[in-house]
Amino acid sequence: MSFPKGFLWGGATSAAQIEGAYNRDGKGLSTADMMTLAESGNPREITGKIESDKFYPTHFAIDHYDRYEEDIALFAEMGFKGYRLSFAWTRIFPNGDDEVPNEKGLAFYDKVIDLCLSYGIEPLVTIQHFDTPMGLEKYGFWKSRKVVDLFVKYSEVLLRHFNGRVRYWLTFNEINNMSTMPWNAGGISINASEKDKMVAAYHQLVASAKVVKLAHEIDPNNQVGMMYNGHFSYPNSPDPEDIQGNEEFQQKMLFYADVQCRGVYPNFKLKELERQNIVLPTQEGDAEILKEGTVDYISFSYYLTHVCGKKTKGIIKGLNGLETGYTNPYIKRTQWGWGIDPKGLRYALNFLYNRYQLPLIIVENGLGAEDKIEEDGTIQDDYRIDYIKQHLIEMKKAIDLDGVPVMGYTAWGPIDLVAASTGQLRKRYGFIYVDLNDFGQGTGNRIRKKSFDWYKEVISSNGENLSI
Ligand code: BG6
Repeated sequence: MSFPKGFLWGGATSAAQIEGAYNRDGKGLSTADMMTLAESGNPREITGKIESDKFYPTHFAIDHYDRYEEDIALFAEMGFKGYRLSFAWTRIFPNGDDEVPNEKGLAFYDKVIDLCLSYGIEPLVTIQHFDTPMGLEKYGFWKSRKVVDLFVKYSEVLLRHFNGRVRYWLTFNEINNMSTMPWNAGGISINASEKDKMVAAYHQLVASAKVVKLAHEIDPNNQVGMMYNGHFSYPNSPDPEDIQGNEEFQQKMLFYADVQCRGVYPNFKLKELERQNIVLPTQEGDAEILKEGTVDYISFSYYLTHVCGKKTKGIIKGLNGLETGYTNPYIKRTQWGWGIDPKGLRYALNFLYNRYQLPLIIVENGLGAEDKIEEDGTIQDDYRIDYIKQHLIEMKKAIDLDGVPVMGYTAWGPIDLVAASTGQLRKRYGFIYVDLNDFGQGTGNRIRKKSFDWYKEVISSNGENLSI
């Protein structure tokens, strides 16, 4: 019993969380560049412009822009078969609505992609990962239909420029975050009305469908997936009201996947919109676009599970969109309070496959934890190894025992990077330690953790050897 041949073992990052060089070589500002570091338990602040007395973690991040050769060499040393990265829209169209692409932006990604390919690493590219260009603010970001066309234009440049080199694409990272972290998802205020969020979500769904269709026209070998934030939840109790409350939470999340996988808004969502007096900004031909632009596969992130019920009624709170008001007494939590639930991964894989019958890939999973450098300079992150190992065991059960077609597994943050929810660097996910603190101070040196050798062995044995 082993993982399928050609299984895409690897890691995943996003441009804003690793690159830095936020204003170099023509890059414009993105929504990610306006978020400060969350300090003393306060949430990240989103500033309208860059303020000199504030600290913005993405501006330097881990300096991957200057150190990508070293970083990708380390991924190759671990034996990566696949690497999920994102392109920054603002490197290619600095303002989002520029006439022509910025050649320097394309040149950077040429170097990154060519390097991956030279190591035999299959790139999997997210077109937008939490970094809408600030230049699109004047249109109201994703509230505007204009942004659909601009995104398609940007995507077309990528699809043509990287044709033959990049085959696996994802349109939007965690598209369902429009309901939970709308600023990250598309420049929409956390306090925006439900109508604004649903209009922005509609535009992203139409934009995604257009890009899927275009990608297939440009090259039938292109495989375009959706990326779902795995907000899986259990009902708080067998109380029918808890079951209904949980269902409503799931519906809030799953309608995005329904549209991307089935090409139509599900009835439960249409009815809800009707009750809320929200009229979607549909245009002639949109129904066909959604239908023709369904995805080839589903990718998702999996970190935790929720408990939902009559108290939540489909409402998700907290700036990171994770607060449901219930806790699960059967599972442990991370230092950041995220419920650790490896068995839930098997459940999630079955749930998604049974609902959509599409191939799946886990493109984010991992443990955000503080690491300590020992006196001898090593980092003994057995807790991270254990976390990932438990998840891989459950993923294997889903493949072997349940027959779920899983294409790959890319661990989140194979190298320490800036956390999206808090901006912290000490919330470390990596197999590779980056010697920088939350404020970007330190040598920036890369150090292999204990998990580095462990993951290398996992990959070289194609998941057969999971022991420490
Ligand atoms: C996912 C995002 O939601 O979770 C990543 O796609 C993010 O960008 C990851 O980094 C982990 O969250 P955090 O807040 O720990 O970085």
